[in-house]
Amino acid sequence: MKLLRLVLLLLVFNASAQQGGMWVPSLLRGMNESEMKKLGMKISAADIYDANKPGIKDAVPQFNGGCTAEMISPKGLLLTNHHCGFEQIQSHSTIDHDYLTDGFWAMTMEEELPNPGVVVSFIVKIEDVTTQVLDGVASLGSEAEKQKKIQDNITAVTASFPKEKWQENRIRTFYDGNQYLLFVTETFKDIRLVGAPPSSIGKFGSDTDNWVWPRHTGDFSIFRVYAGKDNRPAEYSKDNVPYVPKHYFPVSIKGMKENDFTMVMGYPGRTTEYLPAVAVEQIVNDLDPARIGVRDAALKVQDGFMRADKAIKIQYAAKYASVANYWKKWIGEVKGLKKSNAVAIKRQKEEAFKKNIAIAGKQNQYGHLLPEFEKAYQDIAPYALSRDYFQEVFLRNTELTLVGYQVYQLTQVYQNKGEQAFNDRKANMLANTPEFYKDFNKVVDQKVFEQLIDIYAKKAPQQFLPESLKNADAQKLATEVYTSKLVSYDGLKELLDGDAKTVMAKLAADKGFAFMQSVSENYLQRIVPKYDEINLKITGLQRTYMKAILEMSPNDRIFPDANSTLRVTYGKVKGYKPADAVTYGAFTYLDGVMEKYIPGDYEFDVPKKLIELYNNKDYGPYGVNGRMPVCFIGTNHTTGGNSGSPALDAKGNLVGLNFDRVWEGTMSDIYYDPEICRNIMVDLRYVLFVIDKFAGCRRLIDEMKIVK
Ligand code: ARG
Ligand code: ASP
Repeated sequence: MKLLRLVLLLLVFNASAQQGGMWVPSLLRGMNESEMKKLGMKISAADIYDANKPGIKDAVPQFNGGCTAEMISPKGLLLTNHHCGFEQIQSHSTIDHDYLTDGFWAMTMEEELPNPGVVVSFIVKIEDVTTQVLDGVASLGSEAEKQKKIQDNITAVTASFPKEKWQENRIRTFYDGNQYLLFVTETFKDIRLVGAPPSSIGKFGSDTDNWVWPRHTGDFSIFRVYAGKDNRPAEYSKDNVPYVPKHYFPVSIKGMKENDFTMVMGYPGRTTEYLPAVAVEQIVNDLDPARIGVRDAALKVQDGFMRADKAIKIQYAAKYASVANYWKKWIGEVKGLKKSNAVAIKRQKEEAFKKNIAIAGKQNQYGHLLPEFEKAYQDIAPYALSRDYFQEVFLRNTELTLVGYQVYQLTQVYQNKGEQAFNDRKANMLANTPEFYKDFNKVVDQKVFEQLIDIYAKKAPQQFLPESLKNADAQKLATEVYTSKLVSYDGLKELLDGDAKTVMAKLAADKGFAFMQSVSENYLQRIVPKYDEINLKITGLQRTYMKAILEMSPNDRIFPDANSTLRVTYGKVKGYKPADAVTYGAFTYLDGVMEKYIPGDYEFDVPKKLIELYNNKDYGPYGVNGRMPVCFIGTNHTTGGNSGSPALDAKGNLVGLNFDRVWEGTMSDIYYDPEICRNIMVDLRYVLFVIDKFAGCRRLIDEMKIVK
């Protein structure tokens, strides 16, 4: 009986071990292929990545540094999320032609809108360069020397690794410094907006539904990649031509069933799955709550203004969404980590780890790790908290202080590098800020400042607070700081006009600048150096800890934390049980959109045309049994950066567009629990339905290869 229980336990453990992980495409054959096939995959690892022939990886570029996208036609058509293209859609919007509210559809190629600065980057090849990067490192004494040598090696290998002249080499670390991979990439710079649904589809449910299942958002937008006449990356030119990709995805409208195999490919940004318990405890108890508190206050102020003023709503839409996104994620993360007992489970694992290294006789090599982690995290606690408060208050949520900080850095450039460097940086800054000021509103920002400075003065560790902030009157301080010339572009130009000496004198007299100078100096002198010192120590410990974990569990499938490089995650279409007696299905339908419909509401309004289509059940070939599928969920392990990732079926056809995770599973970046962690995808049939039946943009459908 006991034995049977054990066997069953092992089976359960194995079944759940099948899920989770973000894997390196060039290493699938050895690590994952057989498991993927067992789960139902019909293609091979070589179809996904092969250094010598085109494949799926060639259809999955990174979109503008932070999101993922996929090629869906032989003429450069690119699909990503609405929230990934949001800034571009916003930047083409005004009150007169408000593409955020009404959507945008280019009915011809001539109408497609260029987006200076936006880039799309493809992976050409992945090579292991660990030996070269770690060459000569082991014999060095201090962690700082090691890091420097690694950096030097990375620079050298990046410069010398063979590539074509229009390509780039980039090296990233895997397993916390135990492996290094080099990526040869191609980056396209002429990316034009082709189509976006109105926000009442593309952002349906907005912040209320964000991170939540069941979901009904058509979170997609469409761009086109343009290339030079030689099909290679080129700066924007009206003579550029649509890029012919090496691979593009056929789109399947056959639909998925529960338990069908799915895989998602994309550029997950950052996870920290192998932190010691003490670090997770710090996140749950101190760091997340601090960040949540600051954003809470900033968001309330902005929301008030946005509801009252349409122009402010457009100005702040993208900024608000991005701040609100992680604010809500952290709330879910704290809840999930607590509910799943992540810290206690990690502590148990650490006990087992201690026993195992003793058994393996590796006490000398690894025995110091856990006690040293405890000490290092204790030491770093007040610095880490001060740092988070500084960044959230001054650099992330108040904008005048961000500009003030950048100007302060400019003065440092003058002091450290001289007049020429100062002039270069100044020119750069003046060229880049008009965009910023277009969406800056002094009244809103001052109110945010007033709220946040009060939180900062009361809650940031008091021992590091600048004198000037102790017992400060927030309102008075705000009034003073906002007399600054930095509140407008013209003011900034005026302040920065003249040679370095003149500028320095003008800055010294500016109240806003003087304030930022004093808090920045306090931060850079009393917080950053010590934080960096302890953090360097932690980096070294984490590298050795990771090495030990890999060594002590040779049979486990241990994936490298996300690092914004191309990964594959796979699993099944599957519902879940978020709470006792509650079961969530895996699919949502247009009926659910109508259930949530609140006429005129800024989050839950539904476009007239969509209601009409719904009433007439006019779904074309995209509906099933008289219903229109909208979203579905699966057990793919994703994180921020995976937005816009293609979700593929067993044959490698595009069936979904990844855009979010479920509320109960937002802690998956730190602790992945296969029972409740799910990724959320838009059903591609809904995407096609919106393009075809809602927007009438048939020309786009005609470019694609539809699998029926
Ligand atoms: N939560 C998703 C992700 O992390 C979607 C974010 C879209 N933004 C929003 N505020 N609704 O990016
Ligand atoms: N929504 C996220 C993104 O933008 C994806 C996630 O965090 O699940 O990348």
